[in-house]
Amino acid sequence: MRLKDIKNTFQNQLNSIYSKEEIDNFFFMLTEFYFGVDRLKLALEPDVNIANPEAILYALKLLKEEKPIQYIIGETEFYGLPFKVNKNVLIPRPETEELVDWILNESKTNNQQSITVLDIGTGSGCIAISLAKNLPNAKVYALDVSNEALKVAKENAELNNAEVNFIEDNILNPSQKKLVSESYKFDIIVSNPPYVRKQEKQLMKANVLNNEPHLALFVSDDNPLLFYKAICEFSNKNLNKGGKLFFEINEYLGKDMTQLLKDYNFKNIELKQDIFNKDRMVRGEHDNIKSLLN
Ligand SMILES: C[S@@+](CC[C@H](N)C(=O)[O-])C[C@H]1O[C@@H](n2cnc3c(N)ncnc32)[C@H](O)[C@@H]1O
Repeated sequence: MRLKDIKNTFQNQLNSIYSKEEIDNFFFMLTEFYFGVDRLKLALEPDVNIANPEAILYALKLLKEEKPIQYIIGETEFYGLPFKVNKNVLIPRPETEELVDWILNESKTNNQQSITVLDIGTGSGCIAISLAKNLPNAKVYALDVSNEALKVAKENAELNNAEVNFIEDNILNPSQKKLVSESYKFDIIVSNPPYVRKQEKQLMKANVLNNEPHLALFVSDDNPLLFYKAICEFSNKNLNKGGKLFFEINEYLGKDMTQLLKDYNFKNIELKQDIFNKDRMVRGEHDNIKSLLN
């Protein structure tokens, strides 16, 4: 089958779901992935014959079912680094790259000092691994409740030659044995926890809703800050004085998140917008934070 015929088949079969640019982009990614044909070769040699088009035609079928291209290929890029992904981990998002960038900008002034960092709900490991790669003096820990997600994160740490200590634990279950009993204290705690309220499901695209792990996405409507509260309580015990807590947040809950950090008595609280001007991340510093339990 000629490459240009496959390209036409893609446009014809997908144009009711995706824009022309998206379809072209999928096609480029897939021809590079399956046949090692780059964009230039594709433009110069559209008549080249593909002897085994089965794989790319199967990918076309999955795209028709709105499966994300990253899951089809099994990899993506985050903060300039390659990451494996599968159905057990959230596909890393550009706004999370902005969070990593913020943390790095705030940490580089102290680059010589050795620091400890904890990423809670690490998923693919994207935050922990990009911090480990860019903060050579940091000892980085990453925690997730999902054993399947941790398998992917460990593979990604190896792929990127990054040293990260992975912990399987449930941040909502205050046993947190492995961390607390060893009295680990952190200079930076970061989390992009589940934060989508069930009521927001109808605003979500089908490709996210039907493919990405719900464990990574959803919280109940009546307690949407559940994870943030648990992590603030955890920080009360395990964040060093002067240490910083960084969160990615639900764009509709910026005010509530700022108030939550105030209630815990964090200092230097800052709410930050992403490049689309949406409230997307918040940071607080431990001066004299307190517990709100009882
Ligand atoms: C929104 S995803 C973030 C993944 C990754 N950090 C990122 O930014 O792409 C939330 C992650 O929290 C994990 N998680 C859900 N409930 C948890 C819990 N009770 N304790 C620890 N991790 C949890 C999920 O498995 C998922 O990997």
